[in-house]
Amino acid sequence: MIHDLAPSLAGTNGSLIQIEHLTKVYQLGEVDVHALRGVSVNVSKGEFVAIMGASGSGKSTFMNILGCLDKPTKGSYLLEGIDVGKLSRDELAMIRNKKIGFVFQGFNLLSRTSALENVELPLFYGPTSNKIRKVKATEALERVGLGDRIHHYPNQLSGGQQQRVAIARSLVNDPSIILADEPTGNLDSRTSVEVMGIFQELNNNGITIILVTHEPDIAEFAKRHIVFRDGKIRADKVNSKPKIASEVIKDLPLIDDEEEAA
Ligand SMILES: Nc1ncnc2c1ncn2[C@@H]1O[C@H](COP(=O)(O)OP(=O)(O)OP(=O)(O)O)[C@@H](O)[C@H]1O
Ligand SMILES: [Mg+2]
Repeated sequence: MIHDLAPSLAGTNGSLIQIEHLTKVYQLGEVDVHALRGVSVNVSKGEFVAIMGASGSGKSTFMNILGCLDKPTKGSYLLEGIDVGKLSRDELAMIRNKKIGFVFQGFNLLSRTSALENVELPLFYGPTSNKIRKVKATEALERVGLGDRIHHYPNQLSGGQQQRVAIARSLVNDPSIILADEPTGNLDSRTSVEVMGIFQELNNNGITIILVTHEPDIAEFAKRHIVFRDGKIRADKVNSKPKIASEVIKDLPLIDDEEEAA
């Protein structure tokens, strides 16, 4: 039986995410790899966090645990007050589908499938009818400015447009959190700022965003900076003056989307 996974922020100090003493050890043959070595952090609803740190410092490991794709070796993780460590596989899958949207560096779109069908995919796990599925997917694509590209295939879209399809797919279930692991890693600078503009707009509408980036320029759009080193949090600071993507974009040279897609 699936427990009630409705949001229950009572008793969580308003924190969406409460993590304490998290460790993750990967066993590689005889060798133990300590990817996380005691991470404690809270994230409140409506935050926009950039996670930075050197390659191998544990960022993706942390994101995978946040996204309920992997379990920690030790430590506790409460998501909206729910102790994720105590959930069964089915419950984890359900919480992941209902509450969390994922965006990756490589877009991860199905290539022989239209933008619309890619965005519909997460809705196949629930009881949604064909008609509602199409309506919701179309709305999500409109939200990221792709209302006129819904029947395009990924290879008919520019990199930035493909990433926007991936963002629409992450949105289609109305998640409370979007987790993005280097979402601008494959994009040129103008397109990166456009994608950050979409994240900022979603964040202004109440979605919590946690984003990994190697680029300080990209982190500047977030409201909080967390830096990982050797599996621990080394710095955690408020960015009191985040850059605003819609303003930054005005000063950047134009790139023709169609030309870029060719
Ligand atoms: N599945 C795995 N099995 C064994 N070791 C792993 C596994 N995944 C990650 N690691 C190791 O855990 C450590 C942290 O890896 P992680 O992928 O979290 O780093 P990262 O900060 O995301 O790096 P990058 O910036 O390169 O993406 C690294 O030493 C890595 O080699
Ligand atoms: Mg990584």
